[in-house]
This record gives sequence, structure tokens and C-alpha cells, in this order.
Amino acid sequence: MVKRTSLHGMWSSRFVFVLAVAGSAVGLGNIWKFPYMAGQNGGGAFVLFYLVCVVAIGLPIMISEIMIGRRGRRNPIATMRIVGEEEGSSPSWGLVGVLGILAGFLILSFYSVIAGWALSYFFLSLGGRFAQATPETIGRLFGGLLGNWQAMAIWHTIFMLLTIAIVARGVERGLEKFVRLAMPGLLVLLLILLVYAVIAADFAAGWKFLFRPDFAALTPGAMLEAMGQAFFTLSVGMGAIMAYGAYLPEGTSILRTSAWVVAADTSIALLSGLIIFPIVFANGLDPASGPGLIFETLPLAFGNMPGGRFLAPIFFGLLVFAAWTSAIGLLEPAVAWSVETHGRSRRVAGIVIGTVIWALGFLTILSFNVLSEFRLFGGTIFDNIDHLASNIFLPLGGLFITIFGGWVMCKNSSADELDLGSGPAYGAWRFLARWLAPAAVLVVFLHATGILGRFGLV
Ligand code: PFF
Repeated sequence: MVKRTSLHGMWSSRFVFVLAVAGSAVGLGNIWKFPYMAGQNGGGAFVLFYLVCVVAIGLPIMISEIMIGRRGRRNPIATMRIVGEEEGSSPSWGLVGVLGILAGFLILSFYSVIAGWALSYFFLSLGGRFAQATPETIGRLFGGLLGNWQAMAIWHTIFMLLTIAIVARGVERGLEKFVRLAMPGLLVLLLILLVYAVIAADFAAGWKFLFRPDFAALTPGAMLEAMGQAFFTLSVGMGAIMAYGAYLPEGTSILRTSAWVVAADTSIALLSGLIIFPIVFANGLDPASGPGLIFETLPLAFGNMPGGRFLAPIFFGLLVFAAWTSAIGLLEPAVAWSVETHGRSRRVAGIVIGTVIWALGFLTILSFNVLSEFRLFGGTIFDNIDHLASNIFLPLGGLFITIFGGWVMCKNSSADELDLGSGPAYGAWRFLARWLAPAAVLVVFLHATGILGRFGLV
């Protein structure tokens, strides 16, 4: 087969690719979303099920996505179509790319709003507003932000502009430079916070909450949320990693890259949980308080620890940075698609698509104030957008991707692309991709709809 090259340039080295995928994976999902979802779903059992999903479903799908992306070297829609045809199947596989791009629109629309909160906290902490913080003062501060939709709109706008600016510049010039810096810095800050959580907060209670499973709390809904979170945190199921795979030079180990990214991503999520929950319990806060959780707990640590005055702006700056490298990954598939399909420049594509997503973001902004009483399926508009994208679109996209990688692509193609020989690693991937991952996604879906219960299967 003729090896294609990408129209958007290539990563300059393997290391940069690993950083790019890790940069996409590590973001608000680890530090903001994981703790609050674990808190809302009762802790330990949710965390355990999430870890199982990460390894049994997320990892094989990440490998499949990179593999398919590098095979097709186009935007996710064209890649799925071209490789599908090449493998003697239907061009309709391109629709999986469409689903992914849609998921990216929905996710980025709220992701940018939350990144805006982090941006506002960066400036609040620069101004020393967390000094001697108590749960009451921080509650008021955060409540003030949520109540002020105009302020949220401004931060959201700034964050979207930052994201569009990078995507518009293109892979080598735009993306690479920004993926090198954030993570090591973030890790150091998290370790400092962990020391605080061990010394000054209720570490034992936090540990127990996070790691002692109470299986009664693992409802079908919680299982669906845990699976959705596994997809969300690894950035898989929507073609973002596929788009990055399209820029990957031949000869890089897809397996090793994926394993590293999954390990790094999971460690950072668990680390965040081990920081947040001890602070929650030490201050008598509610672990199930929802999306505001880190914004109401971390300032308490910074406001009361030595050096917190300086560490807080560094932390929130890095959090914005980590969110930025993820947001770039959310926007890239749609921009690559628009450039390839409509012949637009990256700049025009980035601005047009970014503006649509920016406008969509107002639904999330208003969910926390003007429309906070409005309920659909028992949740706010933000809850619904998040649920649809993270818990339905991503697993559905992932299901199709793993079926594509395991069944549609023939053994020769996947073996050639993964370059693992016919050893146990290849066999293990193929088993997970063909059988375990699709079955697991289906079972969780059916379980969540109550269908399994109706037939007396659980
Ligand atoms: N994985 C990112 C996070 O955990 O913050 C979110 C994300 C980025 C999801 C890119 C999907 C994606 F394509």
C-alpha cells in the first residue's frame, strides 16, 4: 500500500507526539471533572470501575485511534472513509468522524467556560484573594463568579481566542510549542499540594473515600458516568487522537506511546483526588457538591499554606495551560476537516468553527445563573450537554472505532501499522479491541438503560 503523508505537516519527533497526546489527555478532565464526578458518585467503587474502563476500554481504543489516524493521514471523517474503502468496507464509516466532530463541538463549548473559571482564579490568586481563606469566603467568591454571567462570558471568550489562535497557526508552529511546558510544571505543583493534603488536611478520610469501594453506590448510571469519564479523560472516542495520529511519523511505537499517556493521565487524576478529598473532609464540605468542587477546595489549601500566595497563581496558570493543550485537540479535527474539504485556510476555518463553538458556550454559562432552575432530564443544560457528549457520543464513537480497528481493518494492516510482530502484545490488543472493549461498552449502555435488568440479567 502507498503510504500517505499529512497535508498539515508532521510532528518533528516522537517525543513531541507523546507530549501532544498527553497534552490532549491531561486537562480539566483530570483535575476538575474526575474529583467532582467521583464525589457525586460515592467514591471508591466509581473510581475502581473507572480504572477498569481506562485499561480495558480506553487503552485499546487509544491504540486503535492512533493506528487508524496514521493509516489514513487525513481528518477523522476522511480517514475513516478512505481506510474503510481500502479495507473493502463501506465509505459510510466516515460518519463516525462526523459524530466525533459533533462531540468535540459540544465538549469544547463547556470546556472553554470551565477553563474560563480557572483563568479568573488565576487573576484572583494573583491579587491575593485567597489569603486566610475559609469555606465561607471562598464560597462567596465562587458564587460571585457563577452569578455573574457577563464575567464568565468574558473569560470564556478569552480562552476561545487563545485556542483559536494556536489551531490557526498549524501543527508544527502552533501545537508543538505549547505542549512541552505545562505538564512537568503541573506535576510538581500537584505534588506540593499533596504534601499539604497529607500534613494539614484529613488525608485518611480522603484516601478512604477514594479507594474503599462501596458497591451499593455503583448504580447503572454511575457505571455509565465512569465509562464516559474514561473516554473523556483519555480524549478518545471522538477522533482527536486520530487527528494527532495522522501527523505521526512512521516507526513510532503506538503501543508504548499509548501506555505512557494512559499511565500519566491516570496518575494525575488520582493525585487530584488525593488532594481534593482530604481538603473536603477537613473542612466539612460536601464531596458531592458538583462542578464547583475544585474551585471551592483548592483555594483553602493555597490560602492557608506557606508560600500559597505564590503557588496559587502558578497552579491556576498551569491549569489553564493544561486546559489549553486539550482544547486545541478538541478543535483540531473540525479544523483539519474544514481545511481539507473546503480548501479554507487554517485561520479562516479556526475562526469560523471557533465562533460557532463560542456561541454554543453561552448555554453552559447561563446554566449556572439565569437558567440554573431550568431542568431537562433532571439536570441543567450544562449537565445535558456534558452527558450527551461524554457519556453517549464518546463511548458510541469509541465502540465504532474499536470495531473498525479490530474487525474492519484486516490483520495484515493492523499488524503492519502497530509493528508488534505477532507476539502477545499484539494478540492482547486484538482481543481487547475485537471482543472485550466493544462488549463492555455495549453492556454498560444496556445496563444504564435498564434493559439488562428487565431481562433479569443483572
Ligand atoms: N482529555 C481532556 C481532559 O481530560 O481534560 C478533555 C478532552 C480533550 C476530551 C480532547 C476529548 C478531546 F478530544
